[in-house]
Amino acid sequence: MFHKKPISQLVKETEGNTDLKRTLSATNLISLGIGAIIGAGIFTLTGTAAALHAGPAVVLSFLLAGLACALAGLCYSEFASMIPVAGSAYTYAYATMGEFIAWIIGWDLILEYLFAASTVSVSWSGYVVSFLKDFGIHIPSHITQSPFNYDSTTGAFTSTGALINLPAMFIVALVTVLLTIGIKESTKFNNIIVVVKLIVIFLFIGFGISYIQPENLTPFIPENTGPGAFGFDGILRGAGIIFFAYIGFDAVSTAAQETKNPQRDMPKGILGSLFLCTIIYVLVGWVMTGMVNYKDLDVPDPVAVAVNSAGENLFWLRFPIKIGAIAGLSSVVLVMLMGQPRVFYAMSKDGLLPPSFGKVHPKFKTPYVTTIITGVVAMVIGGLAPINLLGELVSIGTLLAFAIVCAGILVLRYTNPDIHRPFKTPLFPVVPILGVLVCFYLMYGLPWHTWERLIIWMIIGIVIYFTYGKIHSKVRRNEKKG
Ligand code: ALA
Repeated sequence: MFHKKPISQLVKETEGNTDLKRTLSATNLISLGIGAIIGAGIFTLTGTAAALHAGPAVVLSFLLAGLACALAGLCYSEFASMIPVAGSAYTYAYATMGEFIAWIIGWDLILEYLFAASTVSVSWSGYVVSFLKDFGIHIPSHITQSPFNYDSTTGAFTSTGALINLPAMFIVALVTVLLTIGIKESTKFNNIIVVVKLIVIFLFIGFGISYIQPENLTPFIPENTGPGAFGFDGILRGAGIIFFAYIGFDAVSTAAQETKNPQRDMPKGILGSLFLCTIIYVLVGWVMTGMVNYKDLDVPDPVAVAVNSAGENLFWLRFPIKIGAIAGLSSVVLVMLMGQPRVFYAMSKDGLLPPSFGKVHPKFKTPYVTTIITGVVAMVIGGLAPINLLGELVSIGTLLAFAIVCAGILVLRYTNPDIHRPFKTPLFPVVPILGVLVCFYLMYGLPWHTWERLIIWMIIGIVIYFTYGKIHSKVRRNEKKG
């Protein structure tokens, strides 16, 4: 269970692997990162976090969540430049903490990539429905919603009367087809969308700034009214929710095997995209809560509400904002659905998942079997589950993965001090230790029901490991032969 995969073997495997095409540059990676990061978090969750938890101090929540991600991002960069393989955190854990922890993190990453794709597809559906409504096209609500409502405080489910969320399923299906055809084509599509998304956000910041009303920003930290509601407690809770908005920078590392020069470009891609997004988020949070009173922001489209508040002067900005959001959310679905099959691919190559999961398409050179499986599962979940339930699961799963990655850096510096590290986490051991602590702190802030789901998910994963992975593991069999 504690067998480790030697790093030299990992690097050799990468060098000898010609299955996946090496086509991506540092700029592609930053674009991939921004494509994955800016999405449902900023376009929908900022409003909720400000209205119910932090008020204008949502800006501080952004900085706090950004700090957790920066610490994890530094650790990811050290790993991604040292072990540039497709499996990301899963592979890092295999090399440092052994097979069992690797399986745990691989299983946990499904909560991040696959479930995040579903979460964002639900948000995409909301924006598309609202956009079409502006043009007088009404899609019946029983085919644009989850059949359930979920109350995250009590954990209760109620019926919405709807059948299924068809638009959410549609976007997942579309992206799955693109990804099956090929990464080069998909990244081109991604680059265009990233540009559209950024233009729209800069327009919002640039024009919105002159409509800020100082009275909306005072008091900057509203007085605490209960657990998680305003005051410092609210800033913390807000940070837990907003954390979702940063998820995705780590997906860059799953493209390591398709990067031209991963040693040099991985840290640039991960930290560059994270840095840019933090600045954008803080500005958007500030402009948004400055334009509208935070109490009015608990809506599915807070950016559009802020624009509306400026009256006729900014009326024209409403459509570009919705188009930008729809495009932006599409690119998040794309990167998440691209990351997941690559983790499965790595797990299958190690024997922990069936060999068919590692199949690469002879013509398209993409891991098409896992791409299609991931797409179908994400589609079903997106069609049926409510967004807040999904969002919380994604957050807790991702925080756990980040904590394990930070711990891995700590372990590897002691067990393997001499290995070549093209990028080193500064201020060692403060950065990884603080990374673990901050991630657990944010997890601690999430409701107990979410913890229960995480535990159940992990138990299922452990059962699969002992009934399949442990028996079929290639690392273990190679060692026995040797
Ligand atoms: N960070 C991504 C989003 O906000 C997951 O949609």
